Amino acid sequence: MPDLSINIAGIEMKNPLTVGSGTYGHHGNFNQFFPVETMGVLVPKTVRPIEWPGNPPRRVIEVPSGLHSSVGIPSISWEQFEAVDAPRLRDLPVPVIQSVIGRTEVEYAEVVARASALNAFQGLELNLSCPNLKQGGLDFGYDPDAAYKLVKRARQETDLPLVAKLAPDYSSLVSVAQAIEAAGADAVALVNAPRAMCIDIETLKPMIGNGVGALSGPAIKPMAVYMVWTLYRSISLPIFGMGGVANYKDVIEFMAAGAAAVAFGTVSYVDPMALPRALVDLETWLVEKGIDDVKSLIGAAHGSDFQRPAPLKEMKHAV
Ligand SMILES: Cc1cc2nc3c(=O)[nH]c(=O)nc-3n(C[C@H](O)[C@H](O)[C@H](O)COP(=O)(O)O)c2cc1C
Repeated sequence: MPDLSINIAGIEMKNPLTVGSGTYGHHGNFNQFFPVETMGVLVPKTVRPIEWPGNPPRRVIEVPSGLHSSVGIPSISWEQFEAVDAPRLRDLPVPVIQSVIGRTEVEYAEVVARASALNAFQGLELNLSCPNLKQGGLDFGYDPDAAYKLVKRARQETDLPLVAKLAPDYSSLVSVAQAIEAAGADAVALVNAPRAMCIDIETLKPMIGNGVGALSGPAIKPMAVYMVWTLYRSISLPIFGMGGVANYKDVIEFMAAGAAAVAFGTVSYVDPMALPRALVDLETWLVEKGIDDVKSLIGAAHGSDFQRPAPLKEMKHAV
């Protein structure tokens, strides 16, 4: 049987499959369709340090190419998270990387410190797709300086592996990824769902309650594969790849582009068994191809001579 195990920043995963934050189970309920330990690592819904109702309805619209959504990360209070969710997550027979978000650098630091102190998680994921209120609302994940400061601050609050989940923006992608590597992140996750809009031709208004939403699912896969491919060549960190993943072929594609682990997101809404099926199919494919270690797929599309860049210890430009 091929070796499916992956180690990312010290997190031992028995296989490279995971789920995109916010798309698979909530509040400790992760076994509805298959045992949660089928996956290599679980990434639950992003939590905030404060209670938050989320965005107004409609929040989710099916479009021909995937899902148009703006949920707004509704969050229970921290006290509830600590009392109810955290103990359940701590007891799961799978490593957990908890996703967190804040509205300011201080709030990010606070939620990282609090989540770290729960002793329930093997890693933390910083969801950088939050508007930085001090910078006129530009997401932290679009701004290398803001992302650098935020990750550096978060780094001081925890010894847990830190994964930075980047915004899907071509123009700032490389500079933000280099900034977060220099600031001490241990891995990157990409892509989060890119901004999108649908307009109702009867009302001539945006269809989603928040006006602006995101697009996820099959339509974004080639874009996401390209971004993973680009970052594999630009930074040294391990990559969690996602965006439209639906089956084992997509997993292989993302790994060949450079992902060390691959997340199932929107597909779980239409095909909740996609992940366990992909795991079986991946193993069968590896056996058929005579590949004895799944790790040999990582970055295969770059050719055997390609060397990833050395780790970045300094920001490439002044902050
Ligand atoms: C309904 C919905 C909720 C999401 N919630 C979160 C979230 O809380 N935190 C986060 O980092 N990403 C969130 N995402 C983004 C996904 O984790 C993933 O990065 C993105 O959807 C791309 O993957 P996909 O095309 O396979 O869905 C959400 C996506 C959807 C569709």
